[in-house]
Amino acid sequence: MTVPLPIVAPSILAADFARLADEVRAIEDTADWVHVDVMDNHFVPNLTIGLPVVQSLRAATRLPFDVHLMIEDPRRWAPGYADAGAYNVTFHAEACADPVALAKELRSAGAKAGLAIDRDTPIEPYLDLLPSFDTLLIMTIKAGFGGQRFIPNLLDKVRTARRHVNAGHLELRIEVDGGIAVDTIAEAAEAGADAFVAGTAVFGADDPAEAVRRLRSLAQCAAPRA
Ligand code: DX5
Ligand code: ZN
Repeated sequence: MTVPLPIVAPSILAADFARLADEVRAIEDTADWVHVDVMDNHFVPNLTIGLPVVQSLRAATRLPFDVHLMIEDPRRWAPGYADAGAYNVTFHAEACADPVALAKELRSAGAKAGLAIDRDTPIEPYLDLLPSFDTLLIMTIKAGFGGQRFIPNLLDKVRTARRHVNAGHLELRIEVDGGIAVDTIAEAAEAGADAFVAGTAVFGADDPAEAVRRLRSLAQCAAPRA
């Protein structure tokens, strides 16, 4: 089993919101993507940022935006993030009646399409939809808040997805999100993840750029090779 080179996507949820542009620039040379957690106080209890912040921040960095929509009714809102220049727009399977239709819309708006699977959602019903997607985000916590403890059992979903992706020769990133840090990233990489969201572990560190480098090298060392 082989996986592509790892992507590290720091989540600005753990950054200082009063200094967002500076926080993003601090990881500009080491991160692959910037992960933007959009929460609407309905799909999850928390409320974070939305489209205006993404539009403003887009001009402040050349890093691709990995937008993670934890919102109801993504069909209504997701295409706006693609129009705002997001590289990848991920919405939750639990919030969408027709994920394939929305993936098509996102792709035709010029973005990659991502499907997110929350803690209590099984992966099996979604495996056949994966050819319509570019990213599969598997939560390793319950979506809603940063700083939670990583749940190792959820990596079974990553293993299942990795087998499916490799067997079908799908071009799809398998991304993990929640509690990813120096003590958990290797385990997630071994399971077959190849994109890693990290909030607290990056923006809570004294040197966020160095934290990204360290996470990437740990993921790379642990990645399965044929
Ligand atoms: C939580 C968000 C995560 C969060 C990760 O629902 O989707 O992206 O920011 O934060 P940490 O890395 O602190 O668990
Ligand atoms: Zn996220």
